[in-house]
Amino acid sequence: MAILEGIQIQNFRALRDVTLGRTLYERQQAVLPRLVTVIGANGSGKSSLLDALGFLGDCLAEGAEAACDKLHRGGFEQIRTKGSTESIKFEIRYRETEKARPISYSLHINCDAQGRAQVVYERLRQRRSGQKSGQPYSFLELTDGQGYAWTGTAGFEPDTGTGGGEQAEPEGSEKILVKMKDRQVLGISTLGTLANHERVAAFRDFLTGWYLSYFMPDLARKPSQAGADPHLDRSGENLSRYLQFIQRKNPDGFQQALSRISKKIPGVLSIKPRPEVDRRLILEFSMEGFETPFYQQDMSDGTLKMLAYLLLMEDPAPAPLIGIEEPENGLHHQLLATLASEFKEYAEKSRGPQLLITTHAPNFVDALTPDEVWILDKGSDGFSTLERAADIKGVQALYDEGLPMGSLWFSDHFGRGNP
Ligand SMILES: Nc1ncnc2c1ncn2[C@@H]1O[C@H](COP(=O)(O)OP(=O)(O)O)[C@@H](O)[C@H]1O
Ligand SMILES: [Mg+2]
Repeated sequence: MAILEGIQIQNFRALRDVTLGRTLYERQQAVLPRLVTVIGANGSGKSSLLDALGFLGDCLAEGAEAACDKLHRGGFEQIRTKGSTESIKFEIRYRETEKARPISYSLHINCDAQGRAQVVYERLRQRRSGQKSGQPYSFLELTDGQGYAWTGTAGFEPDTGTGGGEQAEPEGSEKILVKMKDRQVLGISTLGTLANHERVAAFRDFLTGWYLSYFMPDLARKPSQAGADPHLDRSGENLSRYLQFIQRKNPDGFQQALSRISKKIPGVLSIKPRPEVDRRLILEFSMEGFETPFYQQDMSDGTLKMLAYLLLMEDPAPAPLIGIEEPENGLHHQLLATLASEFKEYAEKSRGPQLLITTHAPNFVDALTPDEVWILDKGSDGFSTLERAADIKGVQALYDEGLPMGSLWFSDHFGRGNP
């Protein structure tokens, strides 16, 4: 599966300039692992970090202005770091497969004189096949909506970078002039739909697939319409429709999954799918100490939450990157430790997605290693800083002595203030 090796975010809310993992400009940093956990006190910027990922997806799907004006964002000036007049900038490094050469994507968004957000700069870069050092070459470069793109999988800007000077275009590649009609739209969004821009299309698919979860048990309790959805949505509101989809796709596998899941939730003896007369699918829970069954709407927040996350991991075609915001709310600390190890196992599966989880629960963090944990901190200037626990002096040594990460955090070995 494709993997995000690193991302730099600039001028997005309190994230004036933070880097997670390896990027074009931070090549000495380790690439992101399959499970990335970001911890931090309230107000340190955890929600902003996940929303920055959501913002990228929204820019791609709906354009820059619509993305800025989503209700929870409130417009370009609200989301640009206060005091800054620069663009909101993203620098992403990703690899389509383990063996593929990494691709870097730069995106800058600014506003026009009327305050409307627009795309001002976009660039995709990759080293040539066999190129071991030097700068990567552009295969898409757009400034103020104009520039060039190279078709195929081998074409590049021949006269920039340090890798080799003037060269003929490889066969099967063509340099084309690109002029965007609509300054709201990302170039990768348009070019990514064309069959002869494979690399752009692959990157676009990677970004489009990002999925964010902020599960809200109350919404999952409400009865939903009959029918099937291929993925669980952000809040878990379509839980029943998602269950219907997995059941239709593989009824036996679904039964087995429910039986596996029931063993992981304390007090639950078994879970059975039950079709209603109106064809909706609901779950029937058999609970310890009770003769009569319970249904989804009767379950506690914690149980529903645990259930939703465990079911999320049964998605037959998961997103390449899943962001989960504060899975701890409403979960007992023992369940939280179980959930952390489940996520860890899931992320390590060869076909599993990469997970980016924000949390302020030490119990969750206890299941992790120093190279899976990043600390977001708000500096005295009001801007967030981001640091990998493994890079903080002494942390690895204390961890090697047997001190779990959550306890180290709780006892102030890193991060300012308590969780
Ligand atoms: N445009 C902005 N410029 C600078 N700081 C901002 C901006 N928008 C929000 N913030 C700050 O970012 C912080 C919010 O961080 P948030 O992501 O909600 O933190 P957390 O989820 O860790 O509690 C708040 O302290 C808020 O003041
Ligand atoms: Mg938050």
